[in-house]
Amino acid sequence: MQEIEWSKLSFGYYPTAWNVRCYYRDGKWGEIEETQDTNISMHMAATCLHYGQEAFEGLKAFKGKDGKTRLFRVEENALRMNRSCEGIMMPEMPVELFTEMVTKVVKLNIDYLPPYESGASLYIRPLVIGTGPQVGVRPANEYLFIIFVTPVGPYFKDGFKPTPMAILRGYDRAAPLGTGTIKVGGNYAAGIKAGHIAHEKGYSAVLFLDAKEKKYIDECGPANFFGIKGNKYITPKSESILPSITNKSLMQVAKDLGMEVERRPIPVEELAEFDEAGACGTAAVISPILRIDDLDDNHSYVLAKEGEAGPVCTKLYNALRAIQYGDAEDKHGWVTIIE
Ligand code: PLP
Ligand code: COI
Repeated sequence: MQEIEWSKLSFGYYPTAWNVRCYYRDGKWGEIEETQDTNISMHMAATCLHYGQEAFEGLKAFKGKDGKTRLFRVEENALRMNRSCEGIMMPEMPVELFTEMVTKVVKLNIDYLPPYESGASLYIRPLVIGTGPQVGVRPANEYLFIIFVTPVGPYFKDGFKPTPMAILRGYDRAAPLGTGTIKVGGNYAAGIKAGHIAHEKGYSAVLFLDAKEKKYIDECGPANFFGIKGNKYITPKSESILPSITNKSLMQVAKDLGMEVERRPIPVEELAEFDEAGACGTAAVISPILRIDDLDDNHSYVLAKEGEAGPVCTKLYNALRAIQYGDAEDKHGWVTIIE
């Protein structure tokens, strides 16, 4: 195995040794298979290729100072995967199958788990695809569930340094009664062009507004949004955003730190009132937001006045990371130690 420069890792695909798979055939999930093959062979009329029958998850494993491997909130990811599967008519799976496969793939690739000091982690990517052929638009009768892992550093290149985001009103990611609340590939296809335009203009992500009225904040590319106003942690309530497990955890951490938490629609103009703001997610952890430029009305909201992460984002980030790496007590039972 090649020497990995752990602290230089970005968020990309770094090859690892094994992936695990499980096939759904004849109305049931089969045995877990381990393989070193990174390719998939499937029918050219598979529904994932034509009609977007695909759902995925993202979670991380962390190596602690004590040498132990910790998974963060794996059951929440299993439950959300099932909600995604249900939403696009793919078969749900037992939570135990999900957690067993996650545990297995992490153990098989333990050499790729970044060391504690590196600040990197092992990203775990489960996905389910419809593999059975259909030409009419209807669900497949066969599915494949795969999990692979890859060691990663920060999602946004600036890491914990505040990064700029853009509002592009000409693009929607998801509609209120669409698939925004589940983690299906189609949502990312819908947002990929807007994301590319934002990157070309030097922004890290698009801050999507609600598709119906273009009045409220939805989410920031592949992450939820939160704003800090005094002692309040404020995050959008919306029918078109992914319920982020990181955000759910941060709401609890904020309460534990004595903050008030509000989950409600956030009008765009309220951006002017926040002391700090951030994007949060498994990949993003917390990315403090430097500035949000509304590119259609040429308005800029500055959210990191000194160009550095604010004190509340920093406190939340440190508290969350401490739980994930095992440096702080896991008082809510979020962590699973892999033996
Ligand atoms: N929103 C979107 C669109 C995402 O892709 C993600 C990433 O999973 C999140 C939010 C953050 O969710 P989580 O904290 O569960 O990773
Ligand atoms: C995650 O945070 O796990 C994500 O899924 C983000 C990903 C789309 C890059």
